[in-house]
Amino acid sequence: MSPSAAEYEAVAADIEHLAATEEDSDAIVRGAVEAIHDRLDTYSWVGIYFVEGEELVLGPWKGPSATDHVRIPIGEGVCGAAAASGATEIVDDVNADPRYLACFPSTRSEIVVPVLYEGSVVAEIDVDSDAPAAFGAADRAFLERVATAVAAACLVGWDTGGMDWDAPENWA
Ligand code: SME
Repeated sequence: MSPSAAEYEAVAADIEHLAATEEDSDAIVRGAVEAIHDRLDTYSWVGIYFVEGEELVLGPWKGPSATDHVRIPIGEGVCGAAAASGATEIVDDVNADPRYLACFPSTRSEIVVPVLYEGSVVAEIDVDSDAPAAFGAADRAFLERVATAVAAACLVGWDTGGMDWDAPENWA
């Protein structure tokens, strides 16, 4: 069954609280993945990919099995499309989408939400469902809210292009 408005609200508020109070970025990103996976019924597999150069690299994930797609070139697959455009992708029937990179035989639908930090895509949240057309406007709004909450924490997994964050000239 689709999650209720109250369920989305509770999970999003908890992730926002975690992001505001936890100092360890890794714990924030992992905690978000776990909460999304464990508390929303139709969310079968949840992972966060970080942008590294021209690739997406899989970070924390939770689901019944591991994916072979641990690195995805930006522009390939549904994940790569969302990273290239910076816009959320919703696929109602993955088997009908020629871009789809298959991970699990049970997957029927997918949503990919880019994580933007100061206008740049630094990561993305990928959710697969075993139910067809599982994701709609409420999932998009929920996951875009989560993406905003975890954006700063995701920077840790982001390729800084060798920038030295300790150098005073790079301080904000
Ligand atoms: N289906 C994705 C690949 C990642 S897996 O779903 C974990 C895609 O088409 O990009």
